[in-house]
Amino acid sequence: MVGVPMTPQLARKLGESYAHRLAHCVPWSSAMKWTPELNLQAATYKVRELWPGLAASDAPVHLLEPGQFVDSPGGRFRYCVRLQRRGKPLLTWWGNQVGTVVFDGDVIIPALYQAPEDPSDPRPWNDAPWMSLTPAELMTLRPGTRMAKGHTIIAGLGLGHQLIEVAKRLPVKRVTVVELDRELADWIMPVIEPHLRKKVDVIIGDAYEVIPKLRGDVALIDIFPGYGDGFQRVDALRRASPGIKKFWGWGTSEMTGTNQR
Ligand SMILES: C[S@@+](CC[C@H](N)C(=O)[O-])C[C@H]1O[C@@H](n2cnc3c(N)ncnc32)[C@H](O)[C@@H]1O
Repeated sequence: MVGVPMTPQLARKLGESYAHRLAHCVPWSSAMKWTPELNLQAATYKVRELWPGLAASDAPVHLLEPGQFVDSPGGRFRYCVRLQRRGKPLLTWWGNQVGTVVFDGDVIIPALYQAPEDPSDPRPWNDAPWMSLTPAELMTLRPGTRMAKGHTIIAGLGLGHQLIEVAKRLPVKRVTVVELDRELADWIMPVIEPHLRKKVDVIIGDAYEVIPKLRGDVALIDIFPGYGDGFQRVDALRRASPGIKKFWGWGTSEMTGTNQR
């Protein structure tokens, strides 16, 4: 909204709308349907903290202080816990729709950042996290997780959220993770190990090269920086991978109009 002039009437209406939303918050459920306005009770938004006990902060990621982050041993990844303040809208998306979520109290959002690969890039961390446990991320990964069965292949480890959820599913017998970055996998896998209920193999490599050589029941692809920009690449992977029965890519099922799951 920076730079957009607002009349006093509009500002009042907006204020009333948020007050109404905050007064009508409902408990979060990982199964709830996406709507453009999600109003959630903060106390019910329980997320998995990989390094419990870090102090949450809404300061820029490069200005965090000791005790507010954990960096990977090689220093290329940072795990931290973002502080999402009461009433501050957070973006959500579903297919080609956008919306917001507000919480009626402060909540914490674990997130994973990577340093830019380009050494001439002056930014210490990429602006967008690889993964953050926002309602939008949790809801848009859900359709893929619900497809998982038999031997499921997951491309893109991130914070291991989808891996943990997939491994909980009864129809899933084993999981293979394909992750590009060894530093990330060596750092995150031992931390999520206690949460994994199935045998998990990890292959370090580029999903575009590794996946066509694999056999499996379902491949879940979440290796894209932006929501919905992997449509054609998932389709190309599907065509190049005769040994895998079903494919899902982050954002693709909502884009094709598949019903909410
Ligand atoms: C959006 S995150 C995945 C988040 C994950 N779904 C979760 O639930 O935490 C993307 C991950 O894909 C990995 N990645 C990016 N490009 C890749 C590629 N070509 N092949 C394999 N992994 C890749 C990144 O290193 C990162 O770990």
